[in-house]
Amino acid sequence: MGNKIAGARDLWQSRTGLILAMAGSAIGLGNFLRFPVQAAENGGGAFMVPYIIAFVVVGIPLMWCEWAMGRYGGARGHGTAPAVFALIWNSPVARFLGVIGLWVPFVVAIYYVYIESWTLGYSIHFLLGTSPKLAAGADSAKEYIEPFSVFLGTYIGASGGGNIFTPSLTALVALGITLALNFYILYRGISRGIEVFAKFALPALFIMALVLLVRVVTIKTDNGSFIEGLNFLWNPDFSALKSPGVWVAAAGQIFFTLSLGFGAMITYASYIKPEQDVTLTGLTSATLNETAEVILGGSIAIPAAVAFFGVAGAVSIAKSGAFNLGFVSLPAIFASMPAGQFLGFLWFFLLFFAGLTSSVAITQPVVTFFQDEFGIKRSSSVIITMGIMLVSVLMVIFINQTLDEWDFWAGTIGIVIFGLVEVLIFMWVFGGGNAWAELNRDGIIRVPRVFYYIMRYITPLFLLVIIGWWGVELLPGELQKTSWTIWVSRAYLVLLFAVLTVLVFLANRRKSAGHGS
Ligand code: PHE
Repeated sequence: MGNKIAGARDLWQSRTGLILAMAGSAIGLGNFLRFPVQAAENGGGAFMVPYIIAFVVVGIPLMWCEWAMGRYGGARGHGTAPAVFALIWNSPVARFLGVIGLWVPFVVAIYYVYIESWTLGYSIHFLLGTSPKLAAGADSAKEYIEPFSVFLGTYIGASGGGNIFTPSLTALVALGITLALNFYILYRGISRGIEVFAKFALPALFIMALVLLVRVVTIKTDNGSFIEGLNFLWNPDFSALKSPGVWVAAAGQIFFTLSLGFGAMITYASYIKPEQDVTLTGLTSATLNETAEVILGGSIAIPAAVAFFGVAGAVSIAKSGAFNLGFVSLPAIFASMPAGQFLGFLWFFLLFFAGLTSSVAITQPVVTFFQDEFGIKRSSSVIITMGIMLVSVLMVIFINQTLDEWDFWAGTIGIVIFGLVEVLIFMWVFGGGNAWAELNRDGIIRVPRVFYYIMRYITPLFLLVIIGWWGVELLPGELQKTSWTIWVSRAYLVLLFAVLTVLVFLANRRKSAGHGS
């Protein structure tokens, strides 16, 4: 049934294009903003040990699950979690669990696009010279940072400290442009939009990052140097293995950076040619992401901050808020250098490109859902999806704490829960043997057998333990928050989930009634 429209899918045209699009999705704000903060907050070298273990034990296995499931679904005309799960397990439970794979990426897309737009707004400010200037005679970390933190507060309109933000005009204009660009790329489709853009944006991104890296390598102050920054990151501390919080943070970062547990890779993989390799191709794009994260993401922000403010200073900056390292300290450091304005521009434009190739990937699942499951044209699907996004982003722009709250439920807990669902459905419901054969089908390399056992036993157990720890350690504190803004933002999440659930079941009724496949 499904096979008849498989030929109509807009497939990735080349293997290079596929790798770059996938790597483009993975390499995002997570690599350059989230990773350094997580690493610094969780002890630097102490973080890298669980991080690398999590990469092997959950990152690579889940990546393969999503790629294999996506290619399997795509060959049958379906590219989103509810429908792909239902192909494997024909039950309303499977469809319902699949809703998480639409909800998580869409919720994250809404706030991700907004942060992405700040990077555009900032790069415009740096280009035009309207960015903040270093206070004359500044010599303490606080004095360096002050003008930049005031600037961020004004930009997003949070300086009043109230429940409602009043963003600057630039913030709104930059958001408008960012949404329009996302719209345009999605509207042009998989091969003519996303693939074409990734082929250009990814090399550009690496070049910009290398230029910044070369500049950062030579920083040396009385407080420290680049080398001390690298030492901080790369001195393994095995005692960290005893701290559950570090494990949770490391696994969470692996999920976020590899775009796993969102359902988004299932969607991208559904556009792979049905007989194209996923084993080596998947591994290649995951490796590209790790290179960008650890080498580029790890060697820019942290070493620069350590060189400037010392290890303790860098750690306290990272702990002072998720955006302080990237939007406050780093531009302050650049501003103190020759050609600082240009370096600042380069930094934010790099972030913007990284963000754009990721935000289209997080938005694509809902677009694909309308196309595959309701038979709506791509253009109309993009219009509907972006329309809902445009309305929803108002919550993030104006209501204080929405961004953090959504990042907690969707971008932190949601992805790990959904990752567990995926691996269970693939390795247990589909069955270990089937899953293994489907993963290796037409593979350029054969996955080492040890991964069969990892994927079947270790990955799910690892995720269960993490979710359990969360339930005990983080959930009670989270549920004690009481301000009305938090409850409004949560209510909106529930509303989105309900709407998606209704749509998933409507789509299924429509199909049972015999409208296409
Ligand atoms: N991996 C991206 C990042 O590191 C985020 C992302 C998640 C992108 C899911 C696409 C899909 O920023």
